[in-house]
Order: sequence, then C-alpha cells, then structure tokens
Amino acid sequence: MSETSDKRPAFVVEWRDGFKINVDQVDSEHKHLFTLVKQLDLATVNETLDELLDYVVTHFSNEQQLMENSGYPGFSDHLKLHEAFSSTVADFLSAEDSWDDERIQQLRKFLNKWLIGHIMTHDLRFGNWYREHHGETPAAAVTANKKVGWFDRLLGRG
Ligand SMILES: [Fe+2]
Repeated sequence: MSETSDKRPAFVVEWRDGFKINVDQVDSEHKHLFTLVKQLDLATVNETLDELLDYVVTHFSNEQQLMENSGYPGFSDHLKLHEAFSSTVADFLSAEDSWDDERIQQLRKFLNKWLIGHIMTHDLRFGNWYREHHGETPAAAVTANKKVGWFDRLLGRG
C-alpha cells in the first residue's frame, strides 16, 4: 500500500498519443517505458528498477536495429545518445546506495524529461525520415539481440 497522503504528490507524466513517432513498435515500447517509470516507488524500487533497466536495453537494442535495418543515416549519432543516457543513469545510480522518496522523484523526473525530449526530437526525426523513405510500409518488428548485462557493467556489478 502506498502512503503518499502526507507526502508531496509523485512526479508523473502519463504517456500520450502526442508522443507517437508513428513507428508502431517504437511507440508501444516507449509507452511501456512510461508505465515502468510511473511504477517506481520506494516500496519496490529495486525490483522495478531492474525491470526498467532491462527494458531500456531491450528497447534501445530494438530501436537501433530498426534504424539500422531501414538504412537510417542518423543511426550512429542516435546510438551515442542512447549510450550517453545510459552512462548518466548509471552515474546517478552509483552515486548512492539508499533510496528515499526524494531520490525516487528525482529519478522519475529525469527519466520522464529525458524520454520526452529524446522522443520528441531524435526519435521523431527517425519516424519522419522513415515515412519519407519507406512511405506507409510499416517497419517490420524486430527482436534485437540485446547487450545482456549492459547496466550491470556500467554499474560495476558485472
Ligand atoms: Fe531513441
């Protein structure tokens, strides 16, 4: 049970259709990321964080594979943005071992803001490029081999 009544309201950004880049697989994975970020709370932070980091790697791997498969010229720059994000998150997580509500809100805020900024700028650029070059043909769904243990290594756990 959450005990939020005496605390400041959680920072929550809900997924909305305005975040779509119109590549179905990417949109549904983004939506799931928002759901996981929203689930971060003090009682279950370690479990949710494990699931979230794992899903981030899955999503980045799939998105990168879609970009590569479609011949997207911005692919390697985009990869760097994903790597920079991962390092920032790993630094944040390594800075402290313990959690309190404040730190969880800080993380949620960072994740939501980064996601929105990244989606609405860089992922959208890919979505627009995709439509220009591949028309309405939907991108074939991919299940990329993800880099297993990516965050563990960034966090010095692997
Ligand atoms: Fe991306």
